Amino acid sequence: MFDLPAQRAYLSDKYDLAPSPELAASMDDIYQRMARVVSPVDWAIYAPYVKAINDLKAERNAVILGHNYMTPEIFHGISDFGGDSLQLAIKATEVKEDVIVQCGVHFMAETSKILSPNKTVLIPDMEAGCSLAESITAEGIAEMRKQYPGAPVVTYVNTTAEVKAASDICCTSSNAAQIVAAQDSHTVIMTPDQYLAQNVARDVPQKNVVWWEGSCIVHEQYSASDLRDFREWNPGTRLIAHPECPPDVVAEADFSGSTSGIIKYVTDEKPEKALLITECSMASNIADELPEVDFVGPCNMCPYMKKITLEKVLYSLDTMTGQVEVDADVAEKARLSVQRMIDLSRQLGL
Ligand code: 13P
Ligand code: SF4
Repeated sequence: MFDLPAQRAYLSDKYDLAPSPELAASMDDIYQRMARVVSPVDWAIYAPYVKAINDLKAERNAVILGHNYMTPEIFHGISDFGGDSLQLAIKATEVKEDVIVQCGVHFMAETSKILSPNKTVLIPDMEAGCSLAESITAEGIAEMRKQYPGAPVVTYVNTTAEVKAASDICCTSSNAAQIVAAQDSHTVIMTPDQYLAQNVARDVPQKNVVWWEGSCIVHEQYSASDLRDFREWNPGTRLIAHPECPPDVVAEADFSGSTSGIIKYVTDEKPEKALLITECSMASNIADELPEVDFVGPCNMCPYMKKITLEKVLYSLDTMTGQVEVDADVAEKARLSVQRMIDLSRQLGL
């Protein structure tokens, strides 16, 4: 558990973190990446943290990987690489620095550690979990194997290392359909996201896809009737959904894709108005690059992703706390599942 007052006292003894309009002005190049969504007053509050973290990164030989759901001051202010789960997993295998700070959720940090066991991997808040990762254990995978003997298990990366280790291959939302289609079996088990699995089943009709009953607390909240109502009241808005949404929601949308797939679609299409049916920070992080697009609500917040703050990143990197460890045997087996996914994705040109 975090002792926030103690952390704050530690940080304020060591760093000058008072809001500073002067410092903020001197870092205007960074601010311009988020000026549409972050007010100048907020930027003056964030700037001392951004400066301290970026200085410390050089001192610690650290790199920051930021998921697309991070808030703009983290995504644009301190991340060296931003992206979706697949892009960040691949990046973790390529970076040269000794320390990886994962600005995302715990399963992402664990994936980086599995792929780079000799690096120090930090997660600024150990409680940054995921409802999908919490929905299944290795015993759940064994149950599915018993129910569907011989069927390969394709497991979403949003899972613990133990679950990955018990699976045959991983997938992310950007390669799930292709990974399932490439399996040498008619029946394919997908865990743990029932909605991703149902969306894949629709796209890969040649396979008998069976699934675990997990779901994402952010995306399961959307309903097809909400989308229909929204369209009626906001004609001309492009509706763009993440495939963790229920299939009837995806069917109502104009496009569905991973977080990076969504960014690519909006960047290519530049619709006048867009509703991103996913986590709130997605729209904020691309708003400045796409001034011609009006991003309209509503959106849902991931409470796990939002546990990562500038303050926690600074504390973690300063004290080197929040180190992610994975049992060596588990890590070795989990690495096979993740590496098979990366290799197959490369082979398929994804
Ligand atoms: P992406 O792989 O699309 O970035 O999704 C990760 C995630 O947690 C979505 O909820
Ligand atoms: Fe997990 Fe959903 Fe949050 Fe993604 S948005 S980390 S799937 S709870």
